[in-house]
This record gives sequence, C-alpha cells and structure tokens, in this order.
Amino acid sequence: MQLTAGVYFYSSPGGLDFSGELCSNTIVLKGEKLTMVDPGTIQRLPELLERMVADGLDPADLESVILTHSHPDHLEASPVLAERFGCRLYISRVEREFLSQSAAVFYAQHQFPGPEVVFELCEEGPLVISGLELKLLSTPGHSPGGLSILWPLGKLLMTGDLFFPGTIGAFNIFGGNSGDMYKSVARLRDMGGVEKVLCGHGPAIIDRDMVIQNYRALFAEIAAKKAGGLM
Ligand SMILES: [Fe+2]
Repeated sequence: MQLTAGVYFYSSPGGLDFSGELCSNTIVLKGEKLTMVDPGTIQRLPELLERMVADGLDPADLESVILTHSHPDHLEASPVLAERFGCRLYISRVEREFLSQSAAVFYAQHQFPGPEVVFELCEEGPLVISGLELKLLSTPGHSPGGLSILWPLGKLLMTGDLFFPGTIGAFNIFGGNSGDMYKSVARLRDMGGVEKVLCGHGPAIIDRDMVIQNYRALFAEIAAKKAGGLM
C-alpha cells in the first residue's frame, strides 16, 4: 500500500508474531526509479510483486535494493531481483562479512546467495539513488553491520530489526550485542525530525507522537531489562 508520496509499505504476513515462518516488511521508495528496502523471502516474492503492480508500480523499474541486514527473512529474495531486473544490491561492508560467517546459523532453511551474487558494499553516510538523497546510519545491536536508512526529505526512518513498534529487536542472537543495541536505539531517538518509522516487522509508525511514544516504550523496556540483568 502507498503510505505517503513516494513511499510504499508492504507489511509482512506475520506482523510481530515471530513464532512461525518469518518474512520482513518491505518498503519501496519511488524516485526516478524504484528502490526497495528488504525484499524478504523468495517464498513471499510473487505476492510482493503482485502487490506492487496493484499499486501501479512496475517491478521492472527496480533499480536498487538496500538491505538493512543479512538475515534471510530480509535478504533471501534479493539475488532473484538482481537477476530478474538487474538491480544493485546494497549491504554494509561489515554485514557482508557477517553474511559469510553466519550462513550455517541463519540459512539452514533458506537459499544462501551464491558466489555469483554481487553486493555493493556501503558504509555509513549519504547515498543518492534514483534521485533520492538517503542517509545510511550504522546501527548494530541486532546484527553487527545493521543499517538504518533515513530519507530526510520524507522525514522517514527505516530501522530493519533494530526495533519494532513497542519493542526492541533481538540482541541475544548470533551477531547481536546488547550494548550496541542500546547505543543504536539511543542514537536514533536523539535524531530529530523523523515523523514516520518503518521497521522490519510490525505496523507502520506514522506520526511524530507515535515516534516519540515508541521510543518511550523502548527505553522503558531497556530499563526493565537492565534492572533484571538481561541487558
Ligand atoms: Fe533480523
């Protein structure tokens, strides 16, 4: 569905229920061409492309895919898109290395990208694609090379699995780190001007009040976890 001008949000079927088969939310940004954030799984891809077409988007216009991190519920479909539409796949340098190390942990049930798949390695900083001026932010905690993506003009932040509506992401997994999680969430909270946050799972956070309330909920959770020795 179209969320706002130039921003399309395709929510994952499971929402915030992490007990079953996982697939991430997907975001499509429309500039001169299309940029996709986290295409999700191969299994969900046909449905995703159908939903894009129903919204008047032509998947053949896909120019770039940005991966918030390398977990298969976010990344698995990206090589298929690269092959079919010739789009570039952006991932952070740290996360690309982590992908190689974490195959056995995360990809047992998923298709691991073959050696023929080319990733564009990126770092924190500005990234201009399809005429959109984006800013990549290094936000480890859930995964070592995790990226959040800011589109300042749209006042939009995309956080991957760093946090969700009402709860922080998993940090007690391979590659996760509770100290980094805390620092990354605090860094994003202190960044002004964001009015919409789209996370890797769960519903959209669509106004400034919701953004502020969500950070309050996240820090209440962090404080409780720290008090309980869980973080
Ligand atoms: Fe994840």
